This record gives sequence, structure tokens and C-alpha cells, in this order.
Amino acid sequence: MISIAKPLIGEEEKKAVLEVLDSGMIAQGPRVKAFEEAFAAMCGVKHAIATTSGTTALHVALLANGIGEGDEIITSSFTFIASANSALYTGAKPVFVDIDPTTFNINPGLIEAAVTPRTRAIMPVHLFGLSCDIDPILAVAHKYHLLVIEDACQSHGARYKGRRVGSFGTGTFSLYPTKNITSAEGGMITTDNDTVAEKCRVIRQHGMRRRYYHDELGFNFRMTDVHAAIGLAQLSKLERFNAVRRENAAFLSANLKGVVVPYVPAGYEHVYHQFTVRVPGGKRDALRTYLQEHGVGSEVYYPVPVHKQVFYTGELGYKQSLPESEKAAQEVLSLPVHPALSKEDLATIVSTVNTFMAS
Ligand SMILES: Cc1ncc(COP(=O)(O)O)c(C=O)c1O
Repeated sequence: MISIAKPLIGEEEKKAVLEVLDSGMIAQGPRVKAFEEAFAAMCGVKHAIATTSGTTALHVALLANGIGEGDEIITSSFTFIASANSALYTGAKPVFVDIDPTTFNINPGLIEAAVTPRTRAIMPVHLFGLSCDIDPILAVAHKYHLLVIEDACQSHGARYKGRRVGSFGTGTFSLYPTKNITSAEGGMITTDNDTVAEKCRVIRQHGMRRRYYHDELGFNFRMTDVHAAIGLAQLSKLERFNAVRRENAAFLSANLKGVVVPYVPAGYEHVYHQFTVRVPGGKRDALRTYLQEHGVGSEVYYPVPVHKQVFYTGELGYKQSLPESEKAAQEVLSLPVHPALSKEDLATIVSTVNTFMAS
């Protein structure tokens, strides 16, 4: 079976973990600090703050920016549930705007109409490894004095007009094993803002500035040095991993037939966390079954947009319609693109898809 995702763990990661275990300092310590510094450098920002997951990174990033009860956050519904749920954790309300059907990312042209007196932030989600169209988002944010909290959980190293995602506002990343780099579980917050960075560190550690003096409500969202050791070794491979993802994506884009391959606008550097195609003609689910039967893994990210999830329609009473998000949920299929694929794997993916789509 050609898997849809595969973490590439090498000798470097194993050695680094054993060093930490042997050191006797296994909770948050020097490796976390080193990982944070290296991650901040990768993004081109002053600070990075490690947490236990992408979800906790989002949660802390929102709290550290003062988001809370009654605030509204404009974001995309065509995403993993954690983007919107992180707003709920703080007492804020996610307000969904439809996507641009060519990129699957939030349509910046629709954001302004969603701004209300309660809007505090825009949360662009850089989905599948492609940056959102940031300039018009920053323009609306500037006009209405809104914060920008980037959900870059799927886009480590992606660039927009030469700048890395996670450097446009407060950035958040996931280090889950399927991501472009992993720390097993883990998250990272990135920011140039000294106050936000300090606040993130305090919230991550039970609201503690001085040992056992708790000035505010916080959590235990600390990353361990064991996880940071894996993450640091992975980070040193990010450029290589992303280059291979791009090569694999170029091959797939050049050879797949009958499906709509990912679109990359000029000035964007895609890092292909996912290689997500549109399958026209209502054939998506049948293609997926066919691929499964012929040893090719695939996945639907995402079959239900957040505003249509039962918790959102039921408990929270969301009733809106977002046609492009709903259409994408019916048509998308992600194919393997990860760096562990062989040339034969790529040829098999192409021939299996093309055979089915020609039938
Ligand atoms: C867009 C997006 N946001 C947030 C998250 C949450 O990250 P984690 O699973 O590390 O909590 C993910 C993870 O899949 C994601 O894809």
C-alpha cells in the first residue's frame, strides 16, 4: 500500500532522543529552547514558543493576543476543526467566510463584508501547504484594526512573495507526524511581538512569571525536550523534505489526467503538505475506492466543512451556506506526495488515477 503520509525518522532523530533521555533532563529544557530558536530563524521572526500541539499553539496564540468572550474571528470553514475550535476555547466565535475555489484558501474579497464591531481578528488558514493571499488580508486587518493569527499548521516553510508564512501576524504550526516535519506531537507559535511572545510563555506555564507565583490563568502546554530533540533534527531536513515534495508534486501535476491539479499563483512557494486534486463528475468517492483496491492510499481533507459539522449546526446553531467550501468538500481528494515515495510509487499513483479517470 502506498500510504498517504509517512513520517521520515532517521538516525539523527533517534540519536537526539537518546541523548536527551541520557541527560536526565527530559521535560522542557535546553532542547526546547534550541528548537524554538531554530524555528524562529526558519520563519524569519524574533520569537518561537513551543507547545504540545498545533491546537494548543492556536489556543495560546489567541489568548496571548487578548482574544476572549464575545469576540469574533473571521476564518475559513474548509479546514481542520482545530482552527475554528481554538476560537471557541477562548469564548470567541468563529465567523466563516467562503474559500477561493482555485486555491482552497479563504477568499480575501469576502472578508470585509464579514467584519462587525465585534471582530477582533482574521485567522487565515494556509491549507495544504499553500499560503493564503496575504496582502489583501493585511489590508482589511489594517483598515479595521484587526489582529492576524495565522494557522500555518500545514505550511512549514511555505512562502508568499518571498516571506515565510508565520511571519505576517502571530503564526501557529502543528508538528503532528503527518506534517512536513514532526516532533511526534507538538506545536509552535511564531511572532515578532515581544509582548505576545512573553504572554505565550506565561500562558503555556500556568500563568507563572516567577516560580510558583501565578498572575493569571494558564495551562500546562509545555513541550518536552524529548519531542524538541525530534523536532530539531526534523527542522534541519525541512528544506530537503519540501524540495522532494515539490518534485513529487511537479511529476504528479505534469502526468495526472482527468483531475484538476493544485494551482500555485505566481509569487507563492507551495510546500505540498497535501497534493489535493478536484475530481469532477461526481467520481471522487469511486476513485478513492478504486485507488484503495489498487494499493494507493488517499484521503478526503475534508469531507465536511466546519460550519456543517454536527456540533456547529446543532449546539452552536450555524445555518449559513458557503457554496465553494461545500463543493470542495464533495470534490477534493488528496493523493500521496510525501518525500518517502519512490519513482515507482509516483508512476503507480499516476497510472492508477489515469486508468480510472479514462474509464
Ligand atoms: C489546519 C490545521 N489547524 C490546526 C491543526 C491542529 O494541529 P494538532 O493536530 O497538532 O493539534 C491541524 C492539524 O492537523 C491543521 O491541519
